[in-house]
Amino acid sequence: MIHHLSIITARGQTLSIKASGSAGPPVFLIHGFPLDYRMWSEQIEALAQRFRVIVPELRGFGGSTVDADYALSDLADDIEQVRIHLASKDKIHLIGLSMGGYVAFEYWHRHGTNLRSLVLANTKPDRDSPAAAQNRLDMADHAIRQGTWPAVSPMMDRLIASSSKGTAVEEKMREMMMSASPLAIAAAQRAMANRRDFCSLLSGITTPTLVLTGQLDSIAPPEATQQWASKLPLGKFAEIPAAGHMTTLETPELFNAIVTQFLNEVG
Ligand code: MLT
Repeated sequence: MIHHLSIITARGQTLSIKASGSAGPPVFLIHGFPLDYRMWSEQIEALAQRFRVIVPELRGFGGSTVDADYALSDLADDIEQVRIHLASKDKIHLIGLSMGGYVAFEYWHRHGTNLRSLVLANTKPDRDSPAAAQNRLDMADHAIRQGTWPAVSPMMDRLIASSSKGTAVEEKMREMMMSASPLAIAAAQRAMANRRDFCSLLSGITTPTLVLTGQLDSIAPPEATQQWASKLPLGKFAEIPAAGHMTTLETPELFNAIVTQFLNEVG
């Protein structure tokens, strides 16, 4: 069963949180852009068999509010507030996909002593090129001027593999993408455009870390992903065959099996 909770942050914003499972170490799931907790729909109950699963929704997405621009470090601090409120200050396994991975890097940087492990899925440590950052600022303006769907719909082809087109995966993605507000889209894109580069810090990440991506992910391609994962002192790498960027929805059984094995190994 999924419990729907919320906390009010020190800044007076509402953070929506889904939780399931009552035993075992806490596992936090951090969603990608422009999505919400539903991208973990195939993981929450499966992981809740052995872990306490906590899914905070990032500012502006799902039931969480946003009223101003923020930095990804603010989102990492939001997660720390959730840990303090809901996880009895226990150390956590932190799983982030794509933008959720960028937030996970920031969490490691600011609160790394509270981590048991990291799972960095379909993500990357480098910051954007100037052109990619500009595209994000353009999308932010586009969303504010014309609304969410016109701004985000061109992303769909990069988010899922062509074999997922026309399936329930695409339908679910569309539902999530359409439900994000223009302000949520704009604030997240501006934050990602300004994100920190973690490439030079990889060798200092001594947290046990699983890096995984999909064979067909064009945002976090396997070759480049394996290369940066090899710089992590306690890093492991897994490539999921036939999946695009959304491994949690496109290949949930494989995603769950790989992640559960890693979490059990770390303990
Ligand atoms: C995501 O899936 O979170 C986004 O594609 C990340 C990004 O735009 O870099």
